[in-house]
Amino acid sequence: MQAKKIAIIGAGVMGKKHAQTIVKHPHAELVAVCDPFSDVLAQEFNVPNYKDLEELFNNAELDGVVIANPNRFHVSTAIQCMEYGITCLLEKPLALNTEEALSLIEVQQKLNVPILVGHHRRHNKIIQQAKEIIDAGSLGQINTFNALWSVYKPDSYFDIEWHRVAGAGVLAINLVHDLDLMRYLNGEIESVQAMTSTKNRSLEVEDTISILVRFKNGSLGTLLASDAAVSPWGWDQNTEENKNSFAVSPDQDCYFISGSEGALSIPNLEYWNYPKDQLKSWATPLIKNKVEPNKEEDVYINQLTHFIDVIDGKAEPISSPKDAIQNIQLLECIEQAANTQRTVHIEHLEFLQKTA
Ligand SMILES: NC(=O)c1ccc[n+]([C@@H]2O[C@H](COP(=O)([O-])OP(=O)(O)OC[C@H]3O[C@@H](n4cnc5c(N)ncnc54)[C@H](O)[C@@H]3O)[C@@H](O)[C@H]2O)c1
Repeated sequence: MQAKKIAIIGAGVMGKKHAQTIVKHPHAELVAVCDPFSDVLAQEFNVPNYKDLEELFNNAELDGVVIANPNRFHVSTAIQCMEYGITCLLEKPLALNTEEALSLIEVQQKLNVPILVGHHRRHNKIIQQAKEIIDAGSLGQINTFNALWSVYKPDSYFDIEWHRVAGAGVLAINLVHDLDLMRYLNGEIESVQAMTSTKNRSLEVEDTISILVRFKNGSLGTLLASDAAVSPWGWDQNTEENKNSFAVSPDQDCYFISGSEGALSIPNLEYWNYPKDQLKSWATPLIKNKVEPNKEEDVYINQLTHFIDVIDGKAEPISSPKDAIQNIQLLECIEQAANTQRTVHIEHLEFLQKTA
């Protein structure tokens, strides 16, 4: 297979991560970088840096691009790439808000160019294993989905001004990935309630949040998070996905799912149920079964392999704009629920049903 020629738009922290992934991948080739403000990444990887998209598209032969520029440019950049017919891997978040995300989807429906949104955790093999267990019906009818993300961000994190103001808290920055996985594993969310606290750091931005969700399949969920709590419970600590930034506690779990037939903890994939021939009762001892979690594979390599399949037309994006817009809606609804102290229903977007 000929290596796919890929450029990176936005040469910051994530741009570098993607560049490192591309050069490691046997079927991808980094051909250019596009960043108006920095040549450093291009120099490091010995490829040209173009100052704008026109220049990139006029000079580089491309099969795809990775968009990792600041969030406020995601939609305009993706639209320009689609106009050139170039398949994109667009970093999360898809857009700043639902309205902007809808404008991107409208253009995509006309131009029909695929976009993979960078909800990279979906590419973790452990998530695929968990999904297989759930989809096989091993838990029966799911009743509860309990998720935790608790960690202590160093005080210096808040020296950066925008980290201290509303909108840059644990909800917008960290929980979008957990919400995405809750939806991926257990289906769409119908309504939310939420409470936030600023008590621990006394900043404008929330440091702690508790979210209640009602899934469309009738199950209930909680997502409890704090960036001012000392704890080993959270995806980043319990997997090795992000071990350059997070110290790991791999023996701990952060998602606990239970249903009418069994329970599953993630990422260690312990599955609990009653022995087949015994009474289903709280008095019957549970059996603990262990599925060996596949911790070996690099989630970014897996994401890139999927992106190459999307470029080749062999796969539909596992996270498309029509899917990822629901994460943006969720963030908005959770914020509204926390501000009003009311249950907020997620608005149903008509086109989702048509294309489901
Ligand atoms: N998937 C994840 O877990 C994850 C983690 C971190 C960040 N992100 C996302 O990745 C994106 C980049 O984040 P980051 O932490 O790398 O930011 P960053 O600030 O380190 O890098 C952004 C880069 O974009 C460049 N840039 C600015 N305007 C540009 C433009 N118009 N065109 C091209 N480049 C431009 C800047 O010069 C900078 O080099 C964000 O959307 C962020 O949400 C995703």
